[in-house]
Amino acid sequence: MLLRLTSLLSPDELTQARALLDNDAPWIDGGASAGAQAQQRKHNQQIASDSEHSRRLQSLVLAALQREPMFLSAALPKRIFPPRFNRYRASGEHYGAHIDNAILKAAEPGQWLRADLSCTVFLADAGSYDGGELVIHDRLGVQRIKLDAGDALLYPAGLLHEVLPVTRGERLASFLWVESLVPQEAHRQILFDLDMNLVALRARHGESDETVGLTGVYHNLLRQWATP
Ligand code: NI
Repeated sequence: MLLRLTSLLSPDELTQARALLDNDAPWIDGGASAGAQAQQRKHNQQIASDSEHSRRLQSLVLAALQREPMFLSAALPKRIFPPRFNRYRASGEHYGAHIDNAILKAAEPGQWLRADLSCTVFLADAGSYDGGELVIHDRLGVQRIKLDAGDALLYPAGLLHEVLPVTRGERLASFLWVESLVPQEAHRQILFDLDMNLVALRARHGESDETVGLTGVYHNLLRQWATP
């Protein structure tokens, strides 16, 4: 499932984020954090992850994710890898097709995290740059995605994806990975569909014996599938 999270960041948060992503920020070569294979394909810049800029940006994005019901319902997050921040400049910077690593070193020493979902938060106005589409290859074909500033895309981490060359302006984004309480994508999809339909049912008819019963079904499925 590819899911758009509309206005994940408020206009005020977007302004703060962009101020932290200006030319004075600690930009480093994005290839530094990629594996040997990805290094040849990754041509962008990233904010140094041990910097104060990075910490302030991370808390902005993490707070926005934690209050977004669609994110919580679709991802069922167990742990979130600290968000990173990148830019692709108009010299044709891009990231060729790749699949993200499955296992990532967590912030806590000796801990590992399984990347179940990827999330890209778009931080530059879509009209301010050309190119830079996030291209995702899934079973339905190829999706070319460029969202409004402040919107995010959540997608399964196992999909082949790339960022097309930027030919004008600058593409600013945050990206992060989520380890889910529910490892299987198909199970997450069923839980998300059930939850969204329950929300709609309650909005239309209020709480009823049936919505209480179906909420029980939701939790019993979660009990079967979750690996906390
Ligand atoms: Ni990637």
